[in-house]
Amino acid sequence: MAIVYDSRTGTTKAMAEQMAEMARSAGHGCVLSPVQAADPVEVAAADVVCIGSWTEGLFFILQHATKATMEFIGRLSLNGQPTAVFCTYKTSPGKMLGKMAAALAARGAHVTAEFKSRGPTVPGEFVGWLNSLDGA
Ligand SMILES: Cc1cc2nc3c(=O)[nH]c(=O)nc-3n(C[C@H](O)[C@H](O)[C@H](O)COP(=O)(O)O)c2cc1C
Repeated sequence: MAIVYDSRTGTTKAMAEQMAEMARSAGHGCVLSPVQAADPVEVAAADVVCIGSWTEGLFFILQHATKATMEFIGRLSLNGQPTAVFCTYKTSPGKMLGKMAAALAARGAHVTAEFKSRGPTVPGEFVGWLNSLDGA
């Protein structure tokens, strides 16, 4: 599994780190990288992909993933592997996860989950999603 995140002040990084820990506890090999250091070829070679960003916008409207996140998604060439999008936010993530999912689907991902968190805590559904990935 490859987990890629963009974090400005550490919240999304903390969420991504917890996700990696949970994935490893569930028996998945996991490579965690900030988007600035992630290699699109390496990420595309993973059997499962998770991409996350902090929410950028006008707090109640026009929310989007960061430019670095969307540019990274644009460099991916995926082959139908299960993919999750995630974000941290303060007031509302709006439609950003849907936009990330659409961009990933256009790059060949099979997006099967979206996780949002007001803070670094990983939502409980993440464990269910991990369990749904057999042997990936
Ligand atoms: C310039 C800027 C714009 C933001 N816009 C939004 C927004 O539109 N909606 C929202 O819920 N949070 C917004 N936030 C809050 C962050 O998305 C939130 O605090 C996030 O968890 C920060 O993650 P990080 O610590 O990984 O950088 C904004 C923060 C900044 C700095």
